[in-house]
Amino acid sequence: MKIELKGKVSLVTGAARGIGKSIAVKLAQSGSDVIVADLMEDEAKKTAEEISRLGVKARAISVDVSDFNSVENCVKESINAFGKIDHLINNAGVTRDTLLMRMTPQDWDFVLNINLKGVFNFTKAVSTFMMKQKSGRIVNVASIIGLIGNPGQANYSASKGGVIALTKTTAKEFAARNINCNAIAPGFIDTEMTRKLPENIREEYMKLIPLKRYGDPDEVADAVLFFVSDLSKYITGQVLVIDGGMVM
Ligand code: NAI
Repeated sequence: MKIELKGKVSLVTGAARGIGKSIAVKLAQSGSDVIVADLMEDEAKKTAEEISRLGVKARAISVDVSDFNSVENCVKESINAFGKIDHLINNAGVTRDTLLMRMTPQDWDFVLNINLKGVFNFTKAVSTFMMKQKSGRIVNVASIIGLIGNPGQANYSASKGGVIALTKTTAKEFAARNINCNAIAPGFIDTEMTRKLPENIREEYMKLIPLKRYGDPDEVADAVLFFVSDLSKYITGQVLVIDGGMVM
């Protein structure tokens, strides 16, 4: 079955680059109009221009997911421009790694405010519209680290574990309005986020991946496409791990 998203509107956070960009492009290739919501204004504009060339409507909107006012403005601007939001992809995320003993409260707040509060902010702001329209799909980008923990990532693992719990509550609260909410938990995906890791850590991860390669952002985007499509109509509150077999 070909996935057809013509007439749909998708808002993807953190879509200027990396996994978010792959998701935005993949949804556009299936016909969805796309809002590229990101902190990096120039890169977001470039991504939106690239997406427009696929023959759909695309707009870059500058937003800081950790700031509720900024999120509300982004959602209002999106509704004014596109009339609705059918799919919300909460993808924006950051790391600030260090051992818990050395982690400052600022390191903690920085990551939690973007990775977890950011998902709350967007879900709250968009749900007002999705509730009225009695349909919608929300896909949250978590991480396998939210399932298994990782030394040096107390803040990140807690934020992603929180995203998984928030996904399940959102799914339960919104199901009656025909809004499905699922999470994906990628493993080691080749993006700027993981390229900044030291080579020895990258090699250690590789040893743990049964499929013996890092994931491609496109392979994460495929799962998002599934979760916004009719193929997953009866699936909500689930976490799909995309990690080459690392966690099983
Ligand atoms: P990336 O660093 O390449 O891209 C992150 C994007 O989020 C950037 O465009 C950045 O500008 C945006 N962003 C950061 N803070 C923001 C804010 N406050 N407001 C709005 N936008 C903001 O990272 P990548 O690898 O593409 O990660 C995307 C998501 O996937 C993140 O949630 C990350 O935690 C998750 N993930 C990534 C994995 C990987 O191996 N790369 C593995 C598991 C999960």
